Amino acid sequence: MNMLLDEVKQSDSIYMPIPARITAVTTLTAQEKLFTIELPHELCLNHEPGQFVQVSVFGVGEAPISITSSPSRSNGTFELCIRKVGDLTNVIHRMERGALLGIRGPFGRGFPIERFRGKDLLFVCGGLGMAPLRSLVNEVLDDRGNYGRVILLYGARQPADLLFQDELAQWQARDDVEVHLTVDCPDEGWNRCVGVITRLFPEVEVDARNTVAVVVGPPVMYRFVLKELKKLRIPKGNIWFSFERRMKCGVGKCGHCQLNHVYTCQSGPSFNFAELEFLEEAFS
Ligand SMILES: Cc1cc2nc3c(=O)[nH]c(=O)nc-3n(C[C@H](O)[C@H](O)[C@H](O)COP(=O)(O)OP(=O)(O)OC[C@H]3O[C@@H](n4cnc5c(N)ncnc54)[C@H](O)[C@@H]3O)c2cc1C
Ligand code: FES
Repeated sequence: MNMLLDEVKQSDSIYMPIPARITAVTTLTAQEKLFTIELPHELCLNHEPGQFVQVSVFGVGEAPISITSSPSRSNGTFELCIRKVGDLTNVIHRMERGALLGIRGPFGRGFPIERFRGKDLLFVCGGLGMAPLRSLVNEVLDDRGNYGRVILLYGARQPADLLFQDELAQWQARDDVEVHLTVDCPDEGWNRCVGVITRLFPEVEVDARNTVAVVVGPPVMYRFVLKELKKLRIPKGNIWFSFERRMKCGVGKCGHCQLNHVYTCQSGPSFNFAELEFLEEAFS
């Protein structure tokens, strides 16, 4: 089987998308749908958790979207969790099974999962950050014996906005995954934490030296989460962030995605804190 990225590189232009078919559409929340995508015969995505693809609709536009399925569950298809926010994503939300999307990628640097083996993992996630994080979580759970504790702190605006609720329930039912949830606006049935994601930190104790933290969510949350991770004394080299910037080309040509002098589409979206702390724009 050939890899999609090799096919894209060998075509006349790195900007030429490969047509891929939507094989299933699942509504997750009022704003997000899950799209299962199948590449043409003989092509596979071969992605890493944390990478993204450039998704396009002819005549409408193109945008970067994280791959939410894990490589361990690729099965000839991959999944994208797409929030309806603008021109392209509104058109995609109207698409049904059988429709074609353009795909380029996978692009960017994913999470270095081989460095996480043997460690306790503290996942800190806000809102749509669950889209890329789910790929990593399921990759870890499919190889569970090679990791220590798995702790998930996940916050959303309201209970109905929590993504992948069936999977969340399965993770909560396991005795080898610790799930802590919070929402800003509870409904009547909510009996868990209320407030921003940092409210969950007092609920967890970690062995700092042996813990890797992975933080994925809206940039506004990063500064506050970082303070909590510092309080827990997790070493800089064990803290990973996903930094999403306005990307256009996805391949280091246009400069749209720059964080100071760094192109996030090439060096990221996954970054180690030790790489970010001297980039002024990272936590401003
Ligand atoms: C690496 C990466 C991974 C991503 N993964 C996902 C994912 O898994 N799922 C997902 O749903 N989204 C994801 N996104 C975000 C997605 O790419 C954007 O939301 C994209 O802009 C949607 O395209 P659109 O044409 O539908 O919306 P747009 O028309 O681009 O509008 C999106 C929003 O941004 C605003 N906006 C548009 N242009 C500008 C501008 N120049 N300056 C300020 N605001 C602007 C609009 O008003 C609107 O609110 C990811 C982004 C990156 C960089
Ligand atoms: S998106 Fe063009 S250089 Fe990164």
